[in-house]
Amino acid sequence: MDFSFLGEYYKMFLEGTSVTVSISLASLFFGFIIGIFICLLKISKHKVFRIIASVYIEVLRGTPLFVQIYIIYFGLPQIGIEFPSIFNIPSEFIAGVFSLSINSGAYVAEIFRSGIQSIDKGQTEASRSLGLGYWATMTYVIIPQAIKNVLPALANEFITLVKESAIISVIGVIDIMFISSRVKNVIYRPLEPLIVAALIYFVLTFTLSKLVGILEKKMAASN
Ligand code: ARG
Repeated sequence: MDFSFLGEYYKMFLEGTSVTVSISLASLFFGFIIGIFICLLKISKHKVFRIIASVYIEVLRGTPLFVQIYIIYFGLPQIGIEFPSIFNIPSEFIAGVFSLSINSGAYVAEIFRSGIQSIDKGQTEASRSLGLGYWATMTYVIIPQAIKNVLPALANEFITLVKESAIISVIGVIDIMFISSRVKNVIYRPLEPLIVAALIYFVLTFTLSKLVGILEKKMAASN
């Protein structure tokens, strides 16, 4: 094995790493917002809303992320839906964040639902009997506590996103995985660049999961 290519290409791997981290952070952020929204539909009093949320969750969790990305990036342009590049952000990055976010939103919605259902009913009863309406109770009483309970699960979702984002390289997002293929094509050796990619992903996820562990201990202590 020969890792001497790193002398010349380590900078590209670092740039790929920053793309992977940004795409995961952006998707976590938008997935979080989508997740809250879908979760509220899912626990709504109205049956139509609950059905819409269930369909969303089931379809996005029941089909491969890979297929979703292909539909969004290669399929939708056929019916006139194309992702623009915004400022200097390339369109494939936007499409990638979009795909990962709507996918993650389905998982986050379920994370939130279990978080909300874990809050004692007495909290709602107390809040409602103090005169707060449904939405005020949700916004000021239930959701803040639920967010705290689900923080570790959300952090795990971030770890999942870092790993799953490797798929986005198929549409040309220049992430860690994309860089490793590019280097492979230049040096005609597949193994070493892939090992470097795997190592970078591992360092990212291992560090994050240690941080989640610390977070979980802190949460347990503050309950
Ligand atoms: N590998 C899974 C799939 O192809 C993606 C799961 C995404 N998971 C998540 N928690 N965002 O469907």
